[in-house]
Amino acid sequence: MTDVVSRIERIVPDLVAWRHDLHAHPETAFEEHRTSAFIAEKLRAFGLDVHTGLAGTGVVGVLRCGEGATVGLRADIDALPIMEATGLPYASVHSGRMHACGHDGHTTMLLGAARMLADNPPHKGTFVFIFQPAEENEGGARVMIEQGLFDRFPVAAVYGMHNWPGLDCGRIAVHAGPVMAAFDTFEAVVQGRGSHAAMPHQGIDPITIGSQLQAAWQAIVSRAIDPTDPAVISVTQIHAGDTWNVIPDKLVLRGTVRSFQPHVRDLLEAKMARRAELICAAFDARCTFTYSRRYPATINSLAEAEIARQAAISSAGGDKVHTDLPPSMGAEDFAFMLEHKPGAYVWIGNGSDADGRNLHSPHYDFNDAVLPHGVHYWLRLAEIAAVA
Ligand code: NI
Repeated sequence: MTDVVSRIERIVPDLVAWRHDLHAHPETAFEEHRTSAFIAEKLRAFGLDVHTGLAGTGVVGVLRCGEGATVGLRADIDALPIMEATGLPYASVHSGRMHACGHDGHTTMLLGAARMLADNPPHKGTFVFIFQPAEENEGGARVMIEQGLFDRFPVAAVYGMHNWPGLDCGRIAVHAGPVMAAFDTFEAVVQGRGSHAAMPHQGIDPITIGSQLQAAWQAIVSRAIDPTDPAVISVTQIHAGDTWNVIPDKLVLRGTVRSFQPHVRDLLEAKMARRAELICAAFDARCTFTYSRRYPATINSLAEAEIARQAAISSAGGDKVHTDLPPSMGAEDFAFMLEHKPGAYVWIGNGSDADGRNLHSPHYDFNDAVLPHGVHYWLRLAEIAAVA
């Protein structure tokens, strides 16, 4: 065992205790007050300069070691509005909230790296540890940037990490380019005219129109987008009607859109809006269509992806590093940081994804065996990026 691996092994019991404590006390977007205080207290104890209050519950710790680059290392800290079903001894004590995406593990690994770097500082580099709230849906990264994250902490590059169920524990996937898709949401309100279900000709049936709309939107992906460009339109909610024999007045459709290329995103939005408008008009119904762009695509910059690859090889071993996995249609608000700074976001294997051990499942749990691997990656990355 190398010196650094044995030093990491010695702090694993602490890492596991922190992770279980965070897991038991999940907090959702912008309400991570206990989590934020937990992180700040630990960083102060390690001897870092600690800055709180960015995006409310965000925490930034700074460690100055010497000349060299200023490197941003980021973890997300929020939980999800899910009822935990794991039955674990450290399961959530907050009903309806759960660390079902492993951000408890991400927070713990970055805290572990901060402690190790503070205890054995490298000769070069300044390290900015960014603990970001509200990754799920609410764009906490964007809010931290709007509130001056990169003005106050001018990092040369920023790096992120997410656990990946289905990839063996300890393996790391690095993408040179796109990693995660852009994430948008939409809503169409179809205003028809209610009537007796036995006399449909007396009304305007929004359910018939809504089903045409859903089919027409699916045909955008299959017929209007270049088949080599990934795109997803998923209608995830249809609300209309209350009983058997009444045609309702109104129908609401909602869902999500994913893509990578900006021109594909523009095309998806424009074609969805046009089809909603024209199909509703053809049936004499009114339509209100709204489309909101939530997160951009997460795109690693090439030089920083190479630094991440070197760090992964150095920590995990060359045979454990994947550079050929396809990107995910999932989304990630680290994308906002990569719009402002070069950087790279990697996946670290969380082990099997069987039996509901997948992200956002009520049966998911972060794999504690990943903790030392994640800390080791951060340490190698800090060393390499500081002199890059
Ligand atoms: Ni996540």
